[in-house]
Amino acid sequence: MDHSIDILENISTGIIGLDGRLTVVSINSAAQALLEVSMSRTIGVHADQLVLHPDEWLQDLKQALLNNAPLTQRGMTLNLLSGHEIHVDLTVNPVLDKQGEMGLLVEIQAIDRLLKISREESIQHAQETTKTVIRSLAHEIKNPLAGVRGAAQLLARELPGDHLGEYTQIIIKEADRLRDLVDRLLGPRQELSMAPLNIHEVLEHLRKLIRAESDNKVEILRDYDPSLPDTPGDKAQLIQAVLNIMRNALQAATQAEDCVLTLRTRSQRQFTIGATRHRLVCRVDISDNGPGIPENLMHAIFVPMVTGKAEGTGLGLAISQSIINHHGGLLECSSRPGKTTFTIFLPMETKDAQ
Ligand SMILES: Nc1ncnc2c1ncn2[C@@H]1O[C@H](COP(=O)(O)OP(=O)(O)OP(=O)(O)O)[C@@H](O)[C@H]1O
Ligand SMILES: [Mg+2]
Repeated sequence: MDHSIDILENISTGIIGLDGRLTVVSINSAAQALLEVSMSRTIGVHADQLVLHPDEWLQDLKQALLNNAPLTQRGMTLNLLSGHEIHVDLTVNPVLDKQGEMGLLVEIQAIDRLLKISREESIQHAQETTKTVIRSLAHEIKNPLAGVRGAAQLLARELPGDHLGEYTQIIIKEADRLRDLVDRLLGPRQELSMAPLNIHEVLEHLRKLIRAESDNKVEILRDYDPSLPDTPGDKAQLIQAVLNIMRNALQAATQAEDCVLTLRTRSQRQFTIGATRHRLVCRVDISDNGPGIPENLMHAIFVPMVTGKAEGTGLGLAISQSIINHHGGLLECSSRPGKTTFTIFLPMETKDAQ
């Protein structure tokens, strides 16, 4: 059996091979993803066709070729054909091809990605701290609360007549409410029961539910990638995670003139979450046309008990994030007035692909 690993295809750095005339002779998956181009459109194409405004990029390539010396340029901006702009570190190495002719090996490393990874790590660290605080607080609350509830029950039995029972009932009911709140704060306790699941089934189920909740007032647009393979996940918990996000989206969209949500699915290659690089992840975008997340809340929406609503408990997103993190996934958000998008990334394989 051949156990060799295709290093070029599995590396997160974009690699492009150019011949002496600066024509593309090879391009790995990471470079295609970074430049948002496909292999079939790029092989045989001149390097100046890969990006818009290619002057600076061409200059580096030509210089490396001319001087026959490697060149590195950090923090270069590339304008992609798609209209996006990316910031990269570029390294250009002169190499000899199999015929002995001079060519170039171009390495492209996205800087945003690196910054994002360190940001993700600090977010995860902050979440761990919050969890520890919540766990000890929950313990401190639940024990005396059980005592209060038990005492109220005993009292209810000893009280003469029914008219005072109303008060003990209030104590018991409020104690139960507080216990439920603490349980929700602690998040889902059960272990994940993972099985291959069809993410579109989950989304379709929730689409019907949310439509019903809105009295059919919401329009839910779909942009699904039908070729998406099954994703390993705990169906019940993922439904909960996505439901919390969709409920927020519905609540926000009802503030717009027409109430519209959009569900979009895609597969994404070579995606790093925390320290793990996955060959394939499933991406789900949930967008609404509501007013956007208030700026003063933006940095804290995933923190438990942070809410912008009079009736909100501020737990929905904290629970969603905890479930998605348990799956080894990532929950992100971008928001401006008229368009708020929550993006879920879920690994398609649980093993580290590196
Ligand atoms: N799609 C959205 N558009 C605008 N603001 C949002 C959106 N999603 C979340 N938010 C803001 O983030 C806050 C936190 O959301 P989260 O779901 O955690 O709590 P909540 O909705 O207030 O309460 P609940 O526990 O009932 O879900 C919300 O109160 C709201 O201000
Ligand atoms: Mg909510």
